[in-house]
Formats: sequence, structure tokens, C-alpha cells
Amino acid sequence: MKKIILTGDRPTGRLHLGHYVGSLKRRVELQNSGEYDEIYIMIADAQALTDNMENPEKVRQNIIEVALDYLACGLDPKKSVMFIQSQIPELCEMSFYYMNLVTVARLKRNPTVKTEIQMRNFEERIPVGFFTYPISQAADITAFKATTVPVGEDQAPMIEQTREIVHRFNYVYGETLVEPNILLPENQACMRLPGTDGKAKMSKSLGNCIYLSDTSEEVKKKVMSMYTDPTHLKVEDPGHLEGNTVFTYLDAFSKDEYFEKYLPEYKNLDELKAHYVRGGLGDVKVKKFLNNVLEEVLKPIRERRIEFSKDIPSIYKMLEDGSKIAKSKAEKTLAEMKNAMKINYFEDKDLIENQSKKFNGN
Ligand code: TRP
Repeated sequence: MKKIILTGDRPTGRLHLGHYVGSLKRRVELQNSGEYDEIYIMIADAQALTDNMENPEKVRQNIIEVALDYLACGLDPKKSVMFIQSQIPELCEMSFYYMNLVTVARLKRNPTVKTEIQMRNFEERIPVGFFTYPISQAADITAFKATTVPVGEDQAPMIEQTREIVHRFNYVYGETLVEPNILLPENQACMRLPGTDGKAKMSKSLGNCIYLSDTSEEVKKKVMSMYTDPTHLKVEDPGHLEGNTVFTYLDAFSKDEYFEKYLPEYKNLDELKAHYVRGGLGDVKVKKFLNNVLEEVLKPIRERRIEFSKDIPSIYKMLEDGSKIAKSKAEKTLAEMKNAMKINYFEDKDLIENQSKKFNGN
């Protein structure tokens, strides 16, 4: 069986470090591993509209931002098909049929949707499109026969829902769709990178993000005002690592070689942590180190982004070409689905012949 990746992002803003460690970095590694037969990276504009329907301009503006972030991180259109969800109408058609395979009770139990409903204060006034987006996400994944979906852990309920739909579809209509597997980030700190304010997750609406496109001055400012340990008032005080955002980021990004380069009095992160816990290590020093570490990661991304942004028309062209490739793949899967569902009237010669016999004898 072919190994196929599908994943994507909602274009509601530029991508940030949370996206990078949670998914982007891995995608590029998977792309370059050469182990996958097909890779699809989708800009989920239709999904973004499920809770931004009054704001299509925001979605429209952010498509190019997300595409630039992809290219800047190293996604390569020669190896990965980058495309725009709304350009693949087959996905809507698939969703329509999948809706018959999922109950309202099941959708209500989806923990990610539950939290999102709370965050957006939808209460009873949830748009039906938003409520059913896990079904549309199942279409995104199955249209490409994806075997592997690299995403953050918040997306686990979506993959689970997809697997259930695949299971049910194949059971009812015969083996047609492929059950996908989730591929989570390896490192715990990468699973859920907190915002710079120490709040649960980096999120645009909380204003606690470091963007891949931030300038080095912006990054520095954000790092220097990051949440640390509120009980660590004086340098001599013993510090705590638990919930200390600066150390969580170091867990996600630091490498021994960065110590040699920027903080040679420590061999590695364990030594730095031990000193912090013992007392006598100030936050400013740790933050300056983190800033250097983040610059190592972000500088090449930022520079590539500026390069790519010099030719915007070619990026739209890349997305248009990608959307054509994605569409032909989705068309093929949809045709198989319709066959299995017996809604392929005009392709099925036997049907016409048999009906003919039924009405006219012999
Ligand atoms: N729900 C994902 C997000 O909010 C975006 C997305 C849409 C996606 N369809 C997908 C991710 C299919 C993986 C697979 O970021």
C-alpha cells in the first residue's frame, strides 16, 4: 500500500512557533525522508470559514501568508502538493455522504469541538457547518487515501472520527477507503507549546504567539517579557521549572551545540536547569540564551520567507497547480466511493440492461 500524507492548516493568521514544533518541522523531515509516495499539504480555507463566515477577507488575506510560511520552513512543491481546500469541490460531496454515517450525539462528544464551542461562546448558536467540521475533515483526509496525518494532539479526535467514518463506510458499502493513522510530535514540550504568557496554548486570539515571520526585534521583545516562575524574585532564589515557559521552550528547541556557542559555562540543558533550581541563576540570562536559540531556528526561516515573498504571483501559481493535482486525486476517490455506494448510474451498464429487462422482459 502506498504511504500517503495529508495535513493542513486553517488560514486565519500567520503560522507561529506552536505550528512549527507541533507539525511544520516534522512535515519537512517527512517530506525529505523520501519514505512517502505522496504528500498533500492543504490550506483549509473552507474549514476556516466555518467559524469566520462573516470574515472572508481575513481568510483570503492569510492564504498567501500560510503558503509563505510553508515554503519558508522548507516545504517544496516538487515533493509536496500544496493546495487550497475550497478548490476541491469533491470534498463537499464526500462530506455530504459521510454525514449519513455520523450521529449528532457522536459529534457532540468531540472534545476539540467542545472546547472550541466554549472558546467562541457559541452556546446554542453553533453554525451547523462548524459543528460538522470533523466530518468535512474526514473528507479531507480520505479523499487522498492518506495513511499518515501528522498533526498536534488537539487534532487526535478528528483522526479518530475519520477512522470511525472509514470503518463504517467500508463496512456498509465495501472496502473503499483507507484508515489513517495520526503521527504526533515526538517531544512532550512540542506537543503543546504554551504561549509566551504561559497560557495553555500559543494562539492568535490570546496574543501570546511568536510568529515565524516576526523580526528578530519582535522575537527578542516577546522572549524578554515571557512568563517564568513568579516565585523567582531574586537571582539567589531557587527557581521552579514546572510551568516555566522559558524552560518549556528550551525543552523544545535547545541543542547541546547552542550551549557551546552561546552559554559555554553549561554543557547542556540539564546543567542549566540544575543551576536554576538551586538558585543563583537569573531569568534574564536564561531568556537571552533562549533568544539566541530561537534566532538559530527562526533566522533562516525569516530570510527564506523574505526571498519567496519577492515573487507572489508564482506562489499563487504553485497553489493553483497543486490544487489541480489534488483535485484529480479527489475525483478518483470520489468515483470509487460512488461506485461502492451504487450511485454510479450512468457508468453501470448492467444496471441499465437489467432495468431494461425488468420492464420489457428477456
Ligand atoms: N483542523 C486543522 C486545524 O485546525 C486543519 C485541518 C483541516 C486539517 N483539515 C485537515 C489537519 C485534515 C489535518 C488533516 O489546524
